[in-house]
Amino acid sequence: MLDLHLLDAATLRRIVDDAHLMKRAGKRVPAAMRPPGIEDLVLVMIFEKPSTRTRVSFDIAMRQLGGQTIALNHTDLQLGRGETISDTARVLSRYADAIMIRANLHGTLTELAANATVPVINGLTDESHPCQVLADVMTFEENLGPITGQPVAWVGDGNNVAVSWMHAAVRFGFPLRIATPKDLKPDPKVVEWARSEGGDITITTDAAKAVAGAKCVVTDTWVSMGQTDAARRKQLLAPYAVDDRLMARATKDAIFLHCLPAYRGHEVTAEVLDGPQSRVLDEAENRLHAQKAILAWCLGA
Ligand code: CP
Ligand code: NVA
Repeated sequence: MLDLHLLDAATLRRIVDDAHLMKRAGKRVPAAMRPPGIEDLVLVMIFEKPSTRTRVSFDIAMRQLGGQTIALNHTDLQLGRGETISDTARVLSRYADAIMIRANLHGTLTELAANATVPVINGLTDESHPCQVLADVMTFEENLGPITGQPVAWVGDGNNVAVSWMHAAVRFGFPLRIATPKDLKPDPKVVEWARSEGGDITITTDAAKAVAGAKCVVTDTWVSMGQTDAARRKQLLAPYAVDDRLMARATKDAIFLHCLPAYRGHEVTAEVLDGPQSRVLDEAENRLHAQKAILAWCLGA
């Protein structure tokens, strides 16, 4: 589970369908939905950056499936003292049955995956956040039905989460309208990939245009973990705050999503984040259900 564009549409559809089923099944996952031999399987999680949702939802998801977990900050490992990623990957593969990593650099994830012999899961990098967007698609669908063909608007920074939304737009087949300042556009290589795959992706600097008629409005923090140019970003992104006026341009039944953590009064007003169209707490909860589906797929259920 390195990135959504590396998986085919049927696999992604299956994972999101399973996530809906996992939610219905609740805490005690029925035997038929558990990976074989799960009691003996351990997920190792490595964090190079902080995490509330990803860390706790993966940990509890693995336990609810019947397996076990070890969570480590990278400074707990010899990785923090200069041991290579490849040695770390090969050693951990001798102990663990799957590895989840939240990495500063995307290259750390891909190097880990290239050297590991067990499944590797992307728990966020500077380039993408695939597990988040699977939970987001799930949240969209539980409110508005199958996402295919339904327009989604991304407003704000063209960041790692926006990239995974582009991957999802192609694989699930929905129009994605992205509004960012011109200096914070999403990675042009990803836009080019999405269009080459027939994706319906609009890139604009006009937030009102992106949101017009959308069924879902999504934003994220203006300053992602590891970014040091906060003042510049806040200045560039000020016109992209999601407020009631912007939300009013979406459809009446549109929902608002934000992966959290959120900064009220910056990327989104408190009125929208805590308002009737917001589904951010369901979205956060759905990380748990989606992680169970992701782990079940990785571990061969
Ligand atoms: N949305 C998300 O990934 O949250 P955390 O950084 O708390 O894991
Ligand atoms: N774009 C944010 C997402 C946090 C879950 C970041 O990378 O910090």
